[in-house]
Amino acid sequence: MKHTKIAHLLQSGVANTTVNVKGWVRTKRGSKGVAFIQLNDGSTIHDIQIVVNLDTLGEDCVKNAHTGACLSVTGTLIASQGSGQSVEVQATEVVVLGEANPEQYPMQPKAHSMEFLRENAHFRPRTKTFSTVLRLRHGLAFAIHKFFHDKGFYYLHSPIITGSDAEGAGEMFRVTTLDAQNPPLNEHKAVDYSQDFFGKATNLTVSGQLEGEIGAMAMGDIYTFGPTFRAENSNTARHLAEFWMIEPEMAFYELEDNMALAQEFIQYVIRFALENYPDDLKFLDERLAKEESQKKAEERSEMGLIEKLRFVVDNDFKKLSYSEAIKVLLSSNHHKKGKFQYNEIKWGMDLQSEHERYLVEKEFKQPVILFNYPKNIKSFYMKQNENEEVGKETVRAMDILFPGIGEMIGGSQREESYEKLLKVVTDKKMPLESLWWYLDLRKFGTAPHSGFGLGFERLIMFVTGMANIRDVIPFPRYPRSAEF
Ligand code: 4AD
Ligand code: MG
Repeated sequence: MKHTKIAHLLQSGVANTTVNVKGWVRTKRGSKGVAFIQLNDGSTIHDIQIVVNLDTLGEDCVKNAHTGACLSVTGTLIASQGSGQSVEVQATEVVVLGEANPEQYPMQPKAHSMEFLRENAHFRPRTKTFSTVLRLRHGLAFAIHKFFHDKGFYYLHSPIITGSDAEGAGEMFRVTTLDAQNPPLNEHKAVDYSQDFFGKATNLTVSGQLEGEIGAMAMGDIYTFGPTFRAENSNTARHLAEFWMIEPEMAFYELEDNMALAQEFIQYVIRFALENYPDDLKFLDERLAKEESQKKAEERSEMGLIEKLRFVVDNDFKKLSYSEAIKVLLSSNHHKKGKFQYNEIKWGMDLQSEHERYLVEKEFKQPVILFNYPKNIKSFYMKQNENEEVGKETVRAMDILFPGIGEMIGGSQREESYEKLLKVVTDKKMPLESLWWYLDLRKFGTAPHSGFGLGFERLIMFVTGMANIRDVIPFPRYPRSAEF
């Protein structure tokens, strides 16, 4: 008999039919002559209750049905007599497909710490919290594709191995097949990458943007959605060495269009989660409320998870130029009382995450789009502003900051002038030999265009309320960790 997914059984409400379910045991408890098993197959946050009559089926049939064991259960789907579930399965046959020896299985029917679960990432999707996060991760990915597809954007597959450093920050993982012990050297005694697999030095991409621009300059509107890699040694709750990024790139968009699209995009995918994953979000909402209740009053978030998501969906983001943000920070009591760790606030500085968090969490209490940043702290490809405030050189950049997360999106209008871009590339001593094609886009058929990058895991953190980015990706990669 073909098995039916638990999500389907719980929705069907059809009673007195014979069904087969397969899944993993969450808990088993017994009373006189009956065993009650909570079984889950990942299709929903909810378990299905299996009722086993031990007098008819024998004590032995559930002897090995410990937490974590995999079962195939055939039985009758009946209206439940107990509270807490509408239907349950009255078992006629229980087969243990895979045992889980309770003396050895690391997962027990109790709350485990996040650190413990990371060390047991091969089993953590079996917990309620992680299966919920994984379902939402899937749902958000689907919503992202749907949003762009419905708008006429094309999904462009940018390469994972590249010869260029899109962000120019030098935080790349090298890709090579040269012998690490004994690499060929050139006449300057440096590694001779011309003898490497690709005939040049290559690395894992930090961003698909530059190739995305090739797509936009032919297809109009495109987006990339793939893994990106950064070898920055930041051991924080918001950084991964391997994370997924969504990078739309649009021909004929100015910065204002870019900001409007980014807001519409985020609101769309969050609304999709609210509409399609209510049970998972309810579970996460309660989970977060419990966590918050253990914090000091002044550190507690004022809104619950679902309330926060609704707020973001229903309200415009606050827009503010970088220069205005500096003024807000300078006139804040927080600054005047010397409360920022980095309290020397001045125009031209790169905002620290404490400053960003102050703006979104204390000052505006909502998502904030900061734009027109000083050119010296931003990437080479950003469009230079022409109507600058006197003495202030800015580029048409935008960052979107979220409460509890910090930077969720980074983007800009791109410099479309060949001469201006060439000057920046030359001034910054960037390698022309790996950027020639990027400059060519400005030489032949150039056009105003813009785009942005959304960090997928940071979005999932916001939607799920999970505090650590390592807990929203199935197999996190961070310094000193690449198990699983
Ligand atoms: O601001 P970033 O570096 O922008 C770019 O890469 C541009 N090429 C995007 C574009 O315009 N097409 O990165 C974009 C976003 C950040 O806002 C952040 O959400 C996320 O990517 N991000 C990270 N997420 C997890 N771990 C890291 N180490 C991240 N670095 C950036
Ligand atoms: Mg950025």
